[in-house]
Amino acid sequence: MTGSRAYGYTDTLDAEHYARALRADIHGGLTGTPKSTAPTWFYDARGSELFEEITQLPEYPLWRAELGLLRLHAQDVAARTRARSMIELGSGSSTKSKLILEALGPAGLNYVPVDVSADALHQAGAHLVQEYPEIRLHALRSDFTAPLVLPDLPEDGPRLIAFLGSTLGNFRRGARVPFLRGLRDVMRPQDFLLIGADLVKDEQEMIAAYDDAQGVTAEFDKHLLHVLNRELDADFDPDAFDHTAVWNGAESHIEMRLRSRTEQLVKIRELDLAVHFERGEEWITERSAKFTTDGLREEMTEARLRTQELWADSDAGFALLLAAPA
Ligand code: AVJ
Repeated sequence: MTGSRAYGYTDTLDAEHYARALRADIHGGLTGTPKSTAPTWFYDARGSELFEEITQLPEYPLWRAELGLLRLHAQDVAARTRARSMIELGSGSSTKSKLILEALGPAGLNYVPVDVSADALHQAGAHLVQEYPEIRLHALRSDFTAPLVLPDLPEDGPRLIAFLGSTLGNFRRGARVPFLRGLRDVMRPQDFLLIGADLVKDEQEMIAAYDDAQGVTAEFDKHLLHVLNRELDADFDPDAFDHTAVWNGAESHIEMRLRSRTEQLVKIRELDLAVHFERGEEWITERSAKFTTDGLREEMTEARLRTQELWADSDAGFALLLAAPA
């Protein structure tokens, strides 16, 4: 907590927790086969900035499609939920959240943006208190893969948990239902869950969204190497890797991969580890699942959530789903 901010701030990711989770994931991920790590580590200040750039790319229609759906349906979400608190997981810049906040009525509304990026929370927070001084803002720095611990919310009305941008797709199928069930378990009968999910579409279109012509996504992918060099005293050479995006149909997800250009040995001093890469070996740095509307409904049911609305933009291939505890 700090006294100088105009909003509440809780950091559940103290330096020690963050370092421990990072070390465990990178050690496990780079000693397994295939090499595969969590996408959490991309999002320092620069990584969050690069992601914002990605959202504006012509090849990345997800972001605009969701914005369009929220423009059409934020009022419906407000009417359905009458929520007096919104908890948003992976809130980033909170740009799209504003549509929902405005529809819900900012006066006295509690807004709890949850993100791993302190920088994203502070930027969004500073901006939101200016634009909506009547909102009660409480930023929560947390890793949403950990159990959700909410700050005390002064108002007891219905809560809306929002998980937008298809970030749900970062979980693999087998982890999604337990994750959703975990959310379901902190929800009260009057609460709601709003999910934004990217739908399966033409393979080339899906791949292009993760391998754009300008190379912004490649830079984002390789940014991970800079993070690891800094945080774990590693000696990754970003020029020794190429970025690729691959569609994995069996798992219905896009994989971002870094492909080693040569056979190399990379030292990660903080882990006391030397990682061997074959020439051409690929390391999965992110999985981004693509959904079907039926599949989404099914996952909700498995997580004991009842789908109340499903708004889909079939041209853009994106869906918004509103659910309540079953
Ligand atoms: C923030 C997880 C929704 O998977 O589309 C974009 C991240 N990675 N381009 C996604 C991302 C590469 C994004 N999510």
